[in-house]
Amino acid sequence: MTNPVVRLKDITKTYGDGRIAVPVLRGVSLDVAEGEWVSVMGPSGCGKSTLLNCASGLDRIDGGSVLVEGEDIHSMSERRRTAWRARRTGFVFQGYNLIPVLSAVENVEMPLLLGGVRPRRPAARRSRRSPAWGWVNAPTTSPPN
Ligand SMILES: Nc1ncnc2c1ncn2[C@@H]1O[C@H](COP(=O)(O)OP(=O)(O)O)[C@@H](O)[C@H]1O
Ligand SMILES: [Mg+2]
Repeated sequence: MTNPVVRLKDITKTYGDGRIAVPVLRGVSLDVAEGEWVSVMGPSGCGKSTLLNCASGLDRIDGGSVLVEGEDIHSMSERRRTAWRARRTGFVFQGYNLIPVLSAVENVEMPLLLGGVRPRRPAARRSRRSPAWGWVNAPTTSPPN
């Protein structure tokens, strides 16, 4: 694959230390191409959330590297990585951090608006969309278009 958008190289992550160390990621490598849709699957507790947190810069890694569009996000300062995350990443968490009175689309737009990105679609069109919970609670249906 040439120029993956996301490249995880041998990342390691352990919670705790000493006797109660929990090694969760032990040398995970993964390339994601532009436009590729990736599902991370596995039993509860196997490290899916840890992987996503580390790949997006929400949490620190102990070893390896995460390159996003060629940039090593874990070598950035905390401040720069936070600004980068606000601009370049989006997270929809399983059941919290959504604002129920907003549509699914508006929930995704919210951090962009806070970051100063101006919406291209008129507000009148956005406001007709159904509240986020309707879609989130019925994940097999399409989000409002
Ligand atoms: N902050 C933490 N401190 C200590 N252990 C943690 C922490 N977060 C997750 N873990 C442990 O790491 C393992 C992976 O957790 P997690 O990434 O949440 O799994 P998944 O998302 O696949 O259910 C689990 O054993 C969990 O108990
Ligand atoms: Mg999880």
